[in-house]
Amino acid sequence: MTEQNRLSEAPLNFASTNEAFFNESAQSYNQRPNVDQHVKVLVSLFTAYADLFASDKEPTMTMMDFACGTGLISKALQDYTKRIVGVDISQAMVDEYNKTFAGSGRDISARCVNLLEEPNMLGEKFDIVVCASAYHHFEDVDAYTRSLVAHLKPGGSLLVADLVKPESASDDGNPSLAHDGDHHHGHHDGSQAHQHAHAPVRGHADLFPKEVHHIVAHRGGFSKEDMERTFKAAGLEEFSMKATSSSAQITMHGRHVRLFVARGNVKRDAPPAD
Ligand SMILES: C[S@@+](CC[C@H](N)C(=O)[O-])C[C@H]1O[C@@H](n2cnc3c(N)ncnc32)[C@H](O)[C@@H]1O
Repeated sequence: MTEQNRLSEAPLNFASTNEAFFNESAQSYNQRPNVDQHVKVLVSLFTAYADLFASDKEPTMTMMDFACGTGLISKALQDYTKRIVGVDISQAMVDEYNKTFAGSGRDISARCVNLLEEPNMLGEKFDIVVCASAYHHFEDVDAYTRSLVAHLKPGGSLLVADLVKPESASDDGNPSLAHDGDHHHGHHDGSQAHQHAHAPVRGHADLFPKEVHHIVAHRGGFSKEDMERTFKAAGLEEFSMKATSSSAQITMHGRHVRLFVARGNVKRDAPPAD
């Protein structure tokens, strides 16, 4: 076997490939096509959990933003919190995050930690943990979910946002609609006005282009069943999931996609006996 073949057959270590990829792309991350649209949609899904995100309450929540990137989600949710700790595997993303909040006067900062390898690094538990647009990068989503749950206080909530698996009849009883494959859409390179036909979403097992396959462990997104099973296996209760409707015009890498936020809660401490 040639050296080249041996290397190409070696299993990918997604944590390492992601670290390298996002270290390279951190400075241009916020300029990626459709980033603002995705964040806006995700924030509206997060804040639909009104018991957690109530704008009329004094913010008392502490939050971990896992796989925080440059801080787009933290920035949008900061007014609901009194403290945010961002965590990411890429030091360059963490640097961008910390630049975003430097001088803000807020208790918001990020650290570069591999949470599976250093589970006790943070030494703190949170009221909520959010993780946006990152689960598809994790090879072992069960291990990451257990690790995030271990960072929640009793009664705390885990909120995970990612892509709905197309054609999962389960995703909220509303199967993903194929687009007609012949319209204007945004591309990975940012061009918005390029018109061509391509295969519809329905039946695509793979939502990502080849050039990012080395950093994406779950290329088909997640169904409601996938998320519920993972959350329950990590001990979370009261599972629920909100997703964008199939008619919402959300594109990623030139394809129509649906986004979801899944939520599970940690059991509250038993009330003290009288
Ligand atoms: C698509 S970006 C999303 C960033 C941010 N959550 C947002 O919504 O803007 C994915 C992020 O996941 C991080 N990431 C990938 N694998 C990770 C891992 N195993 N542990 C922690 N962070 C990871 C990357 O470094 C990157 O910042």
